[in-house]
Amino acid sequence: MSQYVIRQEREGGFFFIRDEGRAVELDDAGYQLLVDLHRVNGRRDDGLRRRLEHEAAACGQERLLGILRQQGLNQPAGWSDVRHVPSDVPLHELPERAAAAPKRIYFEITRGCNLSCRLCFNNSHNRLRGELTFDELVDVNRQAQALGVFEIRYTGGECTTVPGFAALVKDARARGLYVSIGTNAVYSDEQLEWLPYCGVDWFIISLDGDQAAHDQMRGHGTFDRVLQSLAVLASNRTIRIRLNMTVTRYNVSKIEAVAKVAADFGVGSLNLIPLRPYGRAARSALPLLFDGSGYYTYVKEVRRLRLLFPDVEFITAMDIEDLVANTSRDRLVQKKETCAAGMEACVIGPLGHVFGCSYSPASFPAQASSEEKSLFIAGDIRTELLRSIWRDDTRWGVFRDLKTSKNEKCMRCGHYKVRCTGSCQIMSYYEKQQAREVADGVAELKHFHDPYCPKEAFETQRAALVQVPSCGGLGIS
Ligand SMILES: C[S@@+](CC[C@H](N)C(=O)[O-])C[C@H]1O[C@@H](n2cnc3c(N)ncnc32)[C@H](O)[C@@H]1O
Ligand code: SF4
Ligand code: SF4
Repeated sequence: MSQYVIRQEREGGFFFIRDEGRAVELDDAGYQLLVDLHRVNGRRDDGLRRRLEHEAAACGQERLLGILRQQGLNQPAGWSDVRHVPSDVPLHELPERAAAAPKRIYFEITRGCNLSCRLCFNNSHNRLRGELTFDELVDVNRQAQALGVFEIRYTGGECTTVPGFAALVKDARARGLYVSIGTNAVYSDEQLEWLPYCGVDWFIISLDGDQAAHDQMRGHGTFDRVLQSLAVLASNRTIRIRLNMTVTRYNVSKIEAVAKVAADFGVGSLNLIPLRPYGRAARSALPLLFDGSGYYTYVKEVRRLRLLFPDVEFITAMDIEDLVANTSRDRLVQKKETCAAGMEACVIGPLGHVFGCSYSPASFPAQASSEEKSLFIAGDIRTELLRSIWRDDTRWGVFRDLKTSKNEKCMRCGHYKVRCTGSCQIMSYYEKQQAREVADGVAELKHFHDPYCPKEAFETQRAALVQVPSCGGLGIS
């Protein structure tokens, strides 16, 4: 199993460090340096290696050389663990606007689930007829390895309920993929005996509040079961853990309880995901989405909790007042001008469809219109190779052609590409669809806008405070 991957891109490349689940961006010179070092260390030519390192230091590659030293790659022996994935086509044939291959695949291997949460965006509970077979799942691992994909994230549904799951993980690990899982962590005693040891590098566990809130969303007794699983997983120091919490305007006060669980179990990060109004959430979610004042309360709360729990990293794409200006705290995907969908990552659904985003109509191919299918489903791994699907820019317009798919207001916004990756293209699609239906007289006008535009939410709140100066005046800080 290789511990490192050097992958060529249209420009430069990436250096993937498997144990850390991290990819370092390389410019052309950095990429060439690693390729040269890989080659000479293969021959154990120490003199030549030293000369290359010296030349690289003189050309501004100190940071990269520092990373190599940290990894022990200033010694020839370590380089036997490095795999080089050069482009297999002339560089101009690689995608113009996306990575040469996905960095991460979100692999929804089933819709089967041991729970049936009230707000599940993809309606999981029962397996679908015709889900990918075990051999087909392994074939995706194989294709991912060949393409130089870095991470495979099994999710669903509840991926841990799929027969042969441990063998699937073992296969992915043996291919050098970083293995993460999205899971509800409601495990049987039998599962708890093998899950911590089957090779999963990173458990991403859902926890939606304190006991009352979590159980209300996910079923009686589920909170205690998650804590039981956390106790077992956290005692294995080689496993990385993250908690995922779905946030609404009504559970902001519960974030502290989840942060406390994270701190108590030594969990490194807490990812706060805004509720999306799809699947089972579609009917009931609209009143739960943030309004201006709820948004403002949320941002203030995250700031307070960051100080209270310094060892927990709070991840949220929604904080334009975060002191650290960035669009991504992810070690793998960079989200330079949009979210990772279709640019740096893709989803493979349980029936083999390849698409950008689980929140799009691609999650429900049987119900999708032909327009939705052609816009959102890029291909089908049962009939094509992942490589051909990913490399064809024309199938990924919604995600790669930002000039037409991003909301125009983002292009004029000072937060864009600084602290915000811009409006969600799926939300924009629904907004435009609704406007068309209103114009055609088949729908009534509703106030529909992306509820997760931080600027709009803050402006609404600011306007509200201006109107009521007696309760705090303009003090938004
Ligand atoms: C669909 S679940 C699959 C993995 C696993 N069964 C679990 O619950 O963690 C993936 C993630 O989506 C979150 N999620 C579910 N419904 C959502 C919604 N309507 N909006 C935002 N996130 C949602 C879940 O909490 C979970 O963290
Ligand atoms: S959110 Fe996860 S645990 Fe809940 S029903 Fe959906 S897939 Fe299952
Ligand atoms: S307009 Fe809103 S969504 Fe777009 S970049 Fe600005 S803050 Fe982000």
